[in-house]
Amino acid sequence: MTSLTRTFTAGFLAAALFTMLGIPARGADAGGDGLDQRIEELLGRMTLEEKLGQMTLLTSDWDRTGPSIKPNYLEGIRKGTVGAVFNAYTAAYTRKLQKIAVEESRLGIPLLFGYDVIHGHRTIFPIPLGEAASFDLKAIEGSARIAATEAAAEGLHWTFAPMADIARDARWGRIAEGAGEEVYLASEITRSRVRGFQGTDLSRPDTILACAKHFAAYGAAQAGRDYHTVDLSPMTLHQVYLPPFRAALDAGVATFMTAFNELNGIPCTGSGYLLSDLLRQEWGFTGFVVTDCTSINEMVAHGFARDLRHAGELAIEAGVDMDMQGSVFADHGPGLVADGTIEQAGIDEAVRRVLRLKGQLGLFDDPYRYSDPAREKAVVMSPAHLAAARDLAAKSIVLLRNEGSLLPLSDSGPTLAVVGPLADGRRHMIGSWSGAGDFEKCRTVLESIQDRTAGRVKIVHAPGCDIDSEDRSRFAEALAAAAEAEVVVAVMGESYDMSGEAASRSDIGLPGVQLQLLRELHATGKPVVLVLLSGRPLAIPWAATHVPSILEAWFPGTMGGPAIADVLFGDVNPSGKLPVTFPRAVGQVPIFLAVKNTGRPFHPEKPDEKYVSRYLDVPNDPLFPFGHGLSYTTFTYSPPRLSSEQIGPGDSLRVEFDVTNSGDRAGVEVAQLYLRDLVGSVTRPLLELKRFKRFQIEPGQRHTVRFTLDPEDLAFVHPDLTLRAEPGEFRVLVGPGSGRLEGATFRLVAGDVRRGAYQVFELGPLHR
Ligand code: NOJ
Repeated sequence: MTSLTRTFTAGFLAAALFTMLGIPARGADAGGDGLDQRIEELLGRMTLEEKLGQMTLLTSDWDRTGPSIKPNYLEGIRKGTVGAVFNAYTAAYTRKLQKIAVEESRLGIPLLFGYDVIHGHRTIFPIPLGEAASFDLKAIEGSARIAATEAAAEGLHWTFAPMADIARDARWGRIAEGAGEEVYLASEITRSRVRGFQGTDLSRPDTILACAKHFAAYGAAQAGRDYHTVDLSPMTLHQVYLPPFRAALDAGVATFMTAFNELNGIPCTGSGYLLSDLLRQEWGFTGFVVTDCTSINEMVAHGFARDLRHAGELAIEAGVDMDMQGSVFADHGPGLVADGTIEQAGIDEAVRRVLRLKGQLGLFDDPYRYSDPAREKAVVMSPAHLAAARDLAAKSIVLLRNEGSLLPLSDSGPTLAVVGPLADGRRHMIGSWSGAGDFEKCRTVLESIQDRTAGRVKIVHAPGCDIDSEDRSRFAEALAAAAEAEVVVAVMGESYDMSGEAASRSDIGLPGVQLQLLRELHATGKPVVLVLLSGRPLAIPWAATHVPSILEAWFPGTMGGPAIADVLFGDVNPSGKLPVTFPRAVGQVPIFLAVKNTGRPFHPEKPDEKYVSRYLDVPNDPLFPFGHGLSYTTFTYSPPRLSSEQIGPGDSLRVEFDVTNSGDRAGVEVAQLYLRDLVGSVTRPLLELKRFKRFQIEPGQRHTVRFTLDPEDLAFVHPDLTLRAEPGEFRVLVGPGSGRLEGATFRLVAGDVRRGAYQVFELGPLHR
């Protein structure tokens, strides 16, 4: 068959091959039922080794995103013992590998190509945490759509995104990759990302499979150290960490990835509770589950498996379908089946799930349909994609502080000093997990300011110091630049690789001597604008009280430089809001919006009270709270008006309030609604975000915001893991951020208990 099929053209080859395999052409099989039947026929012809091959994902040697255990993927593809490959892209390379699978392996089953397309493929958008700061669900969905379009044209079928992990610890480097700390926001964003990647039809060649990762609670690593132990109450797991995953599932996510961490003593990759009882049985997930990179193998180091064979057994029993990079299934599966430790039926079920998704992608019709050089040329980094990246980068920028309205800058002033180690740092613009993005295509902040001012402003530049060293020898250059200028723009923060995987920090201040440089720049008396690039909230208490203007620009992506210039010079009025709390000091971490009260709360009006819950050396409150973000205009809020002061079980509540643009320029506001359940049989957080709305508003205009709170919004997880609301008093608070709120109160009354007053919801609706 091998030599015969080589003589066919690709299209004919595919048709002929799959007719031989008994796999129908698309159209005949659109409903999917025929596909299932054909998969059964194919399964009947597969050896155990070939089946385990469909459960094996190996990296190519193009990229390295973890420890390398089994490098020989080419030989595996040829033998049919590797069914999926990651870290391989471009139409040409994926075609080359696919050809080996289709023409040289015994059954010619097409490969599935996966990759970490996290915030763009070639056109890089802001890091996910930055995207989240836009609170713009449409734009975030659009970013994932564009990423999928580019990735698919380069032969990719599957992205390892979105990361649905709630992150409340800024030390954890992977906080950069998610949608922040709040359940409602993260759930909405996760849903949008899944929709963007997968579109509405997986068989279209510009949609790719999404993967909800890392299941579960990876973000709750002890001490913010990556891969570390997670110990959580089941209530917190269900109330906080699972909802974004459930949102991904509800949006139709095709795959799930296990997490590296253990959860309450069980490594997630070996957790039958997570992967089978919850995900499949309770939630009804029908796609496949892939492990994180070598996480089956790592169950040995966890002290959960005796050896690799045992680890494989535990993973299969738990419900894992595909082994990423560990080769444990391939190496130990045959022995485990031979001695009856695991049953063939379980293997067959996993293989079915993988083949079904390959079929749904249309790979059995044409295994090369994604690897399209013409489409690759047309779509990759197209002007429309770059424009979308610039738009979202500008929307992601958060104006943390703007004393005396120093910003926006004039573009005709005589001299501007652009200093700091990140001002001209091209590599850092696209951040970590920047896929196949090319930082050489970025304009730096310095260049973008030069472009924007086009000779009208004299720009003097000196980095002043490195990102992370103790060397002060170049301070003088930066201070000289400042002396020459009317305003100083200091671009500071973290390097791109100080966040992301395996990039936890115990000190989340400005690294190296940047703070000292900033102080010296400030001491010159020149007004300083601080532009921060970072993958996490930074503890910058000195800057927050001394530097008049601060912009958090995250790692803003391919078009981040122009986007920063857009905001600096007022072409775009900033509208980003913080999706995470900024601490004053790392010692406050974890610090987040949805904290609870204690029995001895601190009273700000009694600062010297002794036996209360407080620190001796730092206030309890954050430096910048969740939802904070200023504009070049000002917005005033009316108190909320409620449709009723009392509602019954099952009733909805309408909330409306007015937002007035009280400044003198048009702006975009993200109005936020928070809820507090005052008394519960389980204590409730002080605030939870429940709704938000982004809208443009002209100066002097008033916009009425209307939200409806549904019964599920009042519900919470109880110790028996039911989700239900309790009668009592609730406070609705609205405002431009969680630090500035107007409130109103309503009661949920018990009603007639016999008529189901205590409505019990499935855990699912919480995550809508
Ligand atoms: C390990 C990371 O945890 C995961 O998010 C990623 O998708 C894989 N490596 C593959 O690169």
